[in-house]
Amino acid sequence: PNTITTNQSNKSFAKNSVEWDLLRNSINKFTDNHSLKVPLVINGERIYSNEGNLSSSSLVSQVNPAKHAQEIASASQVTADGVKFAIDSALKAKKTWMEYSWDDRAAIFLKAAELIETKYRYDLLAATMLGQGKNVQQAEIDVIGELNDFLRFNVKYAEELYHQQPVQSSKGVWNRAEYRPLEGFVYAVTPFNFTAIASNLVCAPALMGNVVVWKPSQTALLSNYLLLTVLEEAGLPKGVINFVPGDPVEVTDVVVNHKDFSALHFTGSTAVFRSLFGKISSNVAQGIYKDYPRIVGETGGKNFHIIHESCNVIHSALSTLRGAFEYQGQKCSAASRLYLAENVADEFLDVLTKNLDTVSLGNNAVHEGFKEFMGPVIHKGSFDKLANAIEEAKKDPELKIVCGGKYDSTNGYFVQPTVIETTNPNHKFMSQEFFGPVLTLYKYKPSDYEKILEVVDTTNQYGLTGAIFAKDRSAIRLAEEKLRYSAGNFYINDKCTGAVVGQQWFGGSRASGTNDKAGSGNILSRFVSVRNIKENF
Ligand code: SER
Repeated sequence: PNTITTNQSNKSFAKNSVEWDLLRNSINKFTDNHSLKVPLVINGERIYSNEGNLSSSSLVSQVNPAKHAQEIASASQVTADGVKFAIDSALKAKKTWMEYSWDDRAAIFLKAAELIETKYRYDLLAATMLGQGKNVQQAEIDVIGELNDFLRFNVKYAEELYHQQPVQSSKGVWNRAEYRPLEGFVYAVTPFNFTAIASNLVCAPALMGNVVVWKPSQTALLSNYLLLTVLEEAGLPKGVINFVPGDPVEVTDVVVNHKDFSALHFTGSTAVFRSLFGKISSNVAQGIYKDYPRIVGETGGKNFHIIHESCNVIHSALSTLRGAFEYQGQKCSAASRLYLAENVADEFLDVLTKNLDTVSLGNNAVHEGFKEFMGPVIHKGSFDKLANAIEEAKKDPELKIVCGGKYDSTNGYFVQPTVIETTNPNHKFMSQEFFGPVLTLYKYKPSDYEKILEVVDTTNQYGLTGAIFAKDRSAIRLAEEKLRYSAGNFYINDKCTGAVVGQQWFGGSRASGTNDKAGSGNILSRFVSVRNIKENF
């Protein structure tokens, strides 16, 4: 593990490295009129709805968002009894799992990475493309690049942690620090937009000897279930990770009211995270838990690109296009507000809009050559929210649509990449997260640069990502200083998306989360509880 390099930073991803026939076979497997039946997996048991058991009562469909008449999976939904069964199974499995040596645990995750890269590459690509609306390159970066980087780098970080002995000993006294897993179980609530993030939220705690109850996103069931089957094939013992798709509120209610709840590992919306945090805090106040639970969460952002007059205009315009619109802007890191120096605005917008005109929208999983740049947004709720925002922009005198603005949900949930200009830097479109392909821009006078940095900071409840494009060092320095808490990931002359595991530790503070930094060793230390042992001789 010490010699690993990142898959994800391999910018030379070449379409000709994809074997199209194999990819097409996998896509056909999930679309030829047999939507996959996704079970609950508790204590290694497959549990399907409608089998008269108490753990699962109903089914939820996952459809292809680019063709919503096409169901690709139907997933059993867990009941309150099922969640209790999952927790009991996890706690039972823990007794053995925590006694595995750390390298025996690590070997399972390293083997899973190998299986993903070889045997299951095309199934996982197809599942992520069909279910989550990615094009082949985005799917490859997600499930082969980032997912495996998380698995392998976590092993490297764990190795560093377990092999160090930071405490001092002296003559006649031997002190040591023992990195115990948390005493109870971990609850992982995972998002749709990166199969890699779902994997990391589950696997990082498990690597450290913890047991997990996993509630996957209802719109990533196919890829997430496949991932679980790969972990099982790699040797994961039953009960260590229990897969419980279900209604978020119902599942959460049982989990966070359980006395052995020890940690939340969450990626999702700010509103849901806040509500979970609130419930957990109130239970802490009432002394319900054995432990003080660890809360690790990453939520949204209203991420900025600031274009200084000294920038390389073409580079900053193309970077903005990628930062705002790749994967339909459905990254918590995506650029969604743009501050543009007036004297470079014409050239910048010319490059941006001309290139956006060449972007095609479509079903990434069926077009010959898999060439679409943009696919669908994830579901009707997201589509409606974006369509409403665009309609609102058409009526608001402080807003003007610069390009895009069309949307269509006849077959799939398609929203054109849309740039909206505002004359008011405090407009709510400059602070509200849409989680889609909508970028709001404000043009500022170059002489107001310092003032605009203050606006960027004070209109931002979030603190996730942001970028400054400038050649002038004093402008860069000023942005670094004034925006210290506006972004946990701050980019200079690069787009604000695409953090690489082990290189750009990912996460933000303020409303964006607990900033525990995915892709770093820090995350692992959140899932261990240190015991200090002193021995006298
Ligand atoms: N880590 C991703 C990025 O940096 C977002 O989740 O774009």
